[in-house]
Amino acid sequence: MEVKIRENFQKNDLKIKKLSLKNLDDFFVVFKRVLSTCFPEYCGDLNQFIIKKDYTKKVFFQKLKKNEWLGFVAKIKGEIVGFLVADSLYGGVSYCHWIAVKKELQGRGIGTILLKTWEEKVKKLGGHKLMLITQSPKSGKFYLKNNFKYTGFEEKAWFGLDCWKYGKLIGEPNPKVFLN
Ligand SMILES: CC(C)(COP(=O)(O)OP(=O)(O)OC[C@H]1O[C@@H](n2cnc3c(N)ncnc32)[C@H](O)[C@@H]1OP(=O)(O)O)[C@@H](O)C(=O)NCCC(=O)NCCS
Repeated sequence: MEVKIRENFQKNDLKIKKLSLKNLDDFFVVFKRVLSTCFPEYCGDLNQFIIKKDYTKKVFFQKLKKNEWLGFVAKIKGEIVGFLVADSLYGGVSYCHWIAVKKELQGRGIGTILLKTWEEKVKKLGGHKLMLITQSPKSGKFYLKNNFKYTGFEEKAWFGLDCWKYGKLIGEPNPKVFLN
């Protein structure tokens, strides 16, 4: 049964947990729902392609198992309300595939906490840069507010969608990390 999220929450109610094989089933239910409610740029067919072919539960399972992806879920009272999924370090860089917060809880700082958690994790791993693209022009303000730099525009890129690139330097490139 679906638990109804309260409109307001105390900061203490919010917990950030690692996305893992243990919470993957719960995550995937939320992932599918958020994809269809928070990403209007992905039309019905593309939405289905993403869930059924591109980012299936099996893909998440394999990527997490092999430590090729890292991720976090934001939970309120045990319910997942947001998530961030990124590549593990390659060349000192982590690339974010997904960040989203349930519609009814957007604009309350949860996305910012997810970005900070990602940044801290990548710093700990010795990485020097965070990168992402967005196909939603609306979300640019969110990244700029979190000290990402706008790094370029790609017209009609993947799936024919325009995309905007953002990056954040969080340290010095360290060959001891990325050539290891
Ligand atoms: C973008 C998103 C992850 C931000 O998370 P959030 O918890 O809502 O953001 P925060 O509360 O930490 O940050 C607030 C800032 O984010 C921006 N923001 C808030 N809601 C937003 C929304 N629905 N869409 C885009 N940006 C939003 C605003 O700039 C806001 O600042 P303001 O309050 O001064 O105007 C979230 O709004 C979301 O899931 N959007 C839909 C999915 C999406 O676009 N994901 C990113 C695609 S790469």
